[in-house]
Amino acid sequence: MSSTDLVSTPVVLRGARPYGEGEPVDLRVDEGRITAIGPVDSLDTTGAEIVEAAGLIVLPGFVDLHTHLREPGREDAETIDTGSASAALGGYTAVFAMANTDPVADNAVLVEHVWRRGREVGLVDVHPVGAVTVGLAGERLAELGGMAASQAGVRMFSDDGLCVADPLLMRRALEYSSTLGATIAQHAEEPRLTVGAQAHEGEHAALLGLAGWPAAAEESIVARDCLLAHHTGGRLHVCHVSTAGTVEVLRWARASLSGLRGPAASGRRGRVSAEVTPHHLLLTDDRLSTYDPVNKVNPPLRTESDTLALRSALAEGVIDCVATDHAPHAPQDKDCEWAAARPGMLGLETALSVVVETMVNTGLLDWRGVARVMSERPAELVGLTDQGRPIAVGEPASLTLVDPTAHWTVRGTESASLADNTPFEGMRLPARVVATMLRGRFTAQDGKVLG
Ligand code: DOR
Ligand code: ZN
Repeated sequence: MSSTDLVSTPVVLRGARPYGEGEPVDLRVDEGRITAIGPVDSLDTTGAEIVEAAGLIVLPGFVDLHTHLREPGREDAETIDTGSASAALGGYTAVFAMANTDPVADNAVLVEHVWRRGREVGLVDVHPVGAVTVGLAGERLAELGGMAASQAGVRMFSDDGLCVADPLLMRRALEYSSTLGATIAQHAEEPRLTVGAQAHEGEHAALLGLAGWPAAAEESIVARDCLLAHHTGGRLHVCHVSTAGTVEVLRWARASLSGLRGPAASGRRGRVSAEVTPHHLLLTDDRLSTYDPVNKVNPPLRTESDTLALRSALAEGVIDCVATDHAPHAPQDKDCEWAAARPGMLGLETALSVVVETMVNTGLLDWRGVARVMSERPAELVGLTDQGRPIAVGEPASLTLVDPTAHWTVRGTESASLADNTPFEGMRLPARVVATMLRGRFTAQDGKVLG
């Protein structure tokens, strides 16, 4: 039995505002579910722990479709334990663990192992992502059916870190996964266009003499895959959209290809969804001038006009959700010269604050919009039925409490992650996760993980 199955004590959250709207309320939780919501001091508090939440906003727990937990194989960078702790501190109640582990999660035994470890840790629901191709080699389809039918119930497949570049293989993956009701999450990067690439192909890479990663390498794969999703009836999810051009491709795909209009449309005609990372919403390639590899990521940081296009697309729903691409790395893989450094950045504990900085404080999203892009929509895309739910009586009590007025300074060394490669180091960011609750049990409170 996982620790999340243990019966939890009843709790009354006193004085928080759901979605930051209306008057403060009290919210009672019994046995993992919300059992009452009413005006402050109106609820029966018998036997309940009372948690003061005046001034706080309560949101559904966040769902991250793109997390690297590194276990098995790189437990020096992150483990399911430390990654889950980081997720809980960041307000997450579910994460999707990418398949590029060592060995690769390309079979039922491996995904069940990750799923079981996640349950044992019990801080967050860990859903393993299965690899699309055997060993991420891009040559043969992995046993998607076996992974879907395993205890882990895999519902998303991805070779993330690498692109499924062969169009025939991608076609087959979309066909096969659609019979399983599963989604293919594509890391869109035409490898022939990014040989040796080190940074966004533009002014800054040119000045520093770094080989460029052109926007077209992403956009061409996204365009191709939207057509393939349409043709096959498969479900395509585009990982970490990074360019304004990709936004235009997604806009075109949704507007012009019948059936690519989201889950309400007929399943037969395919579906396209997309995510954006917090770092691509905020950071730009002018950071390259320091040559600090903490800024190296794949896809690379782009230009200011790209970040602005990504923000508008997220606000409009052309991009469905935020996903962290939390990518912890051990010091020897990151604190080295630029060319040798691995791409990737921490993201779980800073995601909410970066979304508030780029989307809420700019007037692009309200708090209900934050709930949509960080919780409801990602849960819906992969068919989770107990996450991303409304804050209402009878619903699971998987919740995040946020202080909207807080400011804090990011310190990688204070993170629960084993790694400290945060690009937000030293930045003062708005809003803070105060507590996270998974099915009625606090997993994090006041910056501490509750195991
Ligand atoms: O920056 C990245 N890091 N992009 C990816 O696609 C993979 C990830 C990793 O695994 O470190
Ligand atoms: Zn990726």
